[in-house]
Amino acid sequence: MENIKVNTPTVVVVFGARGDLGRRKLFPAFFDLYSKGILPDKFKLLGVSRAGISKGEFEEVVKNSISEFYKGEARSEKLAGFAGLSDYLCGTFEDFEMYKKISEELLNMDREFGVCSNKLFYLAVPPKNYETILKNLDRSGLTIPCSGAEGWTRVLIEKPFGSDLKTAKSLDRLLGELFHEEQIFRIDHYLAKETIQNILTFRFTNTLFEPIWNNKYIEKVEISLFEKLDVSERGGFYDGIGALRDVGQNHILQILASIAMENPKELNAKNIRAKRAKVLSELKSISKKEMQNSVVKGQYEGYLDEKGVAEDSKTETYFKLKAFLKNKRWKGVPFILESGKALAESKIEAKVFFKEKKPCFCAAPHEKHVHQNILTFKIQPDESIMLQFYVKKPSLTMDYTEQDLTFKYGGDALGNVMPDAYEKILFDCIVGDQTLFTSTKEVMFSWKFITAILEVWQNEEPKIYQKGSEGPDAS
Ligand code: BG6
Repeated sequence: MENIKVNTPTVVVVFGARGDLGRRKLFPAFFDLYSKGILPDKFKLLGVSRAGISKGEFEEVVKNSISEFYKGEARSEKLAGFAGLSDYLCGTFEDFEMYKKISEELLNMDREFGVCSNKLFYLAVPPKNYETILKNLDRSGLTIPCSGAEGWTRVLIEKPFGSDLKTAKSLDRLLGELFHEEQIFRIDHYLAKETIQNILTFRFTNTLFEPIWNNKYIEKVEISLFEKLDVSERGGFYDGIGALRDVGQNHILQILASIAMENPKELNAKNIRAKRAKVLSELKSISKKEMQNSVVKGQYEGYLDEKGVAEDSKTETYFKLKAFLKNKRWKGVPFILESGKALAESKIEAKVFFKEKKPCFCAAPHEKHVHQNILTFKIQPDESIMLQFYVKKPSLTMDYTEQDLTFKYGGDALGNVMPDAYEKILFDCIVGDQTLFTSTKEVMFSWKFITAILEVWQNEEPKIYQKGSEGPDAS
């Protein structure tokens, strides 16, 4: 990525520029691209939010967020250079006059650049603001490209994309009415994680695993997204949304798609998105009857006391479910999907359990031995891919022992630091590559599967678990 330069003049307009996402993720990610010389020479960042601050104060916000959250070294000249590219406008998203101000600002920038620049509109705002901003963007003409050849315009939308199948459909319909599909970038930042992108490379570049990547050899797949953190300051956002919508419908199902999809044959957005969508369409709906044994809904003790949480909230902070795919390759193989907040450890991984070879080639094969090959994609932390296997223990007997082959990121061979997911998102959006952004179909199929569970869950009391534990006992 370091040798790639995007050199068409570009302006990024960030709605909700004073929010958490901008501070924690976007500004540090843009700064990294800038430091590596990847951003266009003619680049501007226009922050928009309701806070009445000056351009100078916004520059300080940008600088401070980089100093706090950027993982590399942020030298002061670079920091000042990058912050100097930013500008700021204050206004409310409902106020149409503000869009006129944005338009004037963008015209000034284009005059300075001497060309019609590309415009990227990033909605870093709560979903309730999407419709207002999208409609005003359209009405103001801001998203009309200068021509077919110059000055593209693109819109980046964060998750959650709707709150169920119905609302997702209506948001997608609105987007479809206002923009062309090539202009719409639906974000699921997990797709852009280096460790998740690598699942496809690992599967489809090696001859070793693909022939056994099916129900004949695989017993089950476990996908876990465990977080030690509780909802902390995010109670107001999280309550009523819950774990299944927050990370199940998107991040976890996209990991499942990477593990289970068919070979897209070519490395392009059209093929890859189509294969992801196909496998998501094959998720078997969990019926009301099956829910009893296949799904667990949990809430950590103390959640009801969090700021912004309703005192009788039934929102889940934990779920575990068993999913199956209706296709030949995966028939009968359970995918155990599990996620929770305030758990014992933070760990995100996908584990593929191969069936045991029976009988074992070992001393006393009639006795109970466990010798199952397990392939683990450690998504974070300790980013790595690990294969557990068995070898003969050097001895006078045929006893065996477990060993592993592990590829670790950041090791000497690959040296450099992994790009952050948001860096990849911004870079791909600027170059116009939609591979790691979700399509309408993917969003709809995943919501279809999740909505059926949410409907049954509506009035179901969650099982309470202790903070710092491994979730409710029943799971
Ligand atoms: C977000 C969820 O999409 O993903 C959060 O809203 C969750 O609740 C986060 O904590 C996890 O992302 P990451 O990149 O920190 O693993």
